[in-house]
Amino acid sequence: ELGVVGDALQCEVFAVGGFVRDLLLRQPNLDVDIVVEGDGIAFASEFARRQGCRIRSHQKFGTAVIIFPDGFKVDVASTRMEYYLEPGALPTVEDASIKLDLYRRDFTINTLAIALNGPRYGELLDFFGGQRDLEEKAVRVLHNLSFVEDPTRVFRAIRFEQRLGFRIGVHTEHLLRSAVRMGFVDKVGGARVFNELVIILKEANPVPAVARMAELQLLKYLHPALVLTPRIRQRFEEASRVIHWHELLYTGEPCQGWLVYFLCLTVELDKDAMEGICRRLAVPARYVGMLCEQRAEARSRLQSLERRRARGTRTKASELYQWLKPLATEVLLAMMAQAGTDEVRQQISHFFTHLRNVSPLLDGNDLLALGIPPGPQYKVILHHLLQARLDGRVLTRDDELALVRK
Ligand code: CTP
Repeated sequence: ELGVVGDALQCEVFAVGGFVRDLLLRQPNLDVDIVVEGDGIAFASEFARRQGCRIRSHQKFGTAVIIFPDGFKVDVASTRMEYYLEPGALPTVEDASIKLDLYRRDFTINTLAIALNGPRYGELLDFFGGQRDLEEKAVRVLHNLSFVEDPTRVFRAIRFEQRLGFRIGVHTEHLLRSAVRMGFVDKVGGARVFNELVIILKEANPVPAVARMAELQLLKYLHPALVLTPRIRQRFEEASRVIHWHELLYTGEPCQGWLVYFLCLTVELDKDAMEGICRRLAVPARYVGMLCEQRAEARSRLQSLERRRARGTRTKASELYQWLKPLATEVLLAMMAQAGTDEVRQQISHFFTHLRNVSPLLDGNDLLALGIPPGPQYKVILHHLLQARLDGRVLTRDDELALVRK
């Protein structure tokens, strides 16, 4: 149908980029990217009119998103040539043909296109050796200035290499290393580096990609003192295990796995260094509390738990609850990954499975029915009931009533 609309508007329409790459690799990819030779926004509007879809468009970039009634989205771009005014700057856009559009892309494996117009439907366009590189499992740039034009591609190269099980080509790796050595990544700006890092940490298994980042001297862009020691790597692998463990609990609690990885990667940095990272990378405010204050809190809790274990001091469930309850799921999982002993890890996992969602059976209405006048003491009573329940001193509702009466 995309091609039919293209025919009607007399413009050529192509599926491009990651969608075509993954199609040829027989990997699932629901991000459909379309390039229109001509006015992409006019194309998207006409398609949406015929198919009952909505669109969102950006005049400045000549792009639109077609949104189907079921929420499915198709990105539409107009053929264009991007100029990078200076290394690391955002591109400026101008009209051009499909071949030029594909030429401005990052790697050959992302330059394949499939024609969608009636007469050419299904024809594969391969101007830059994309099919060969898919066969050779190689991530290769199209030209020597690729990483200079857009240094975020350094991170993208690693991400594709590790995700697809490919290898960055020899010459491309050489170019990548020089771009890093010459400090081009610095020009990108912290927020974009952070964005690329998060995308890497969201990969199904980010461990090898982070190891490769370390090998290519990229961790220093997060913090000069950040190195991937065998110990940190081990924590990082442990993070993978605890994230999957938590998924299997089906707690319904959302958990952003990338944050757990990030916390484990930075485990050996102190609070000042972490605050420095947050500033440099312009980490959004909603994460900073977790990464700085909560992380420091978690660290001291973990030390206390380890000390108590070493001394053989028992920690009551209500204490464990009080310590761990204020911490976000991600911070708790990072703590589990960092725990030095199985016992402490089990204490935290016990908190997740048995303590975190405990609450007293009685509530304010019950206290009112008992003739207790409403007021601040309700909070105190309910807190005591919660503690009693956590420590197994009450089981039934009658136990709680008896405790309140006492
Ligand atoms: N692109 C680029 N340089 C960048 C970012 C993107 O050249 N810094 C190009 C790539 O060729 C890519 C296309 O823009 O194919 C779309 O980008 P994106 O959606 O990020 O890439 P995908 O290949 O679809 O990656 P993913 O599978 O991770 O979505």
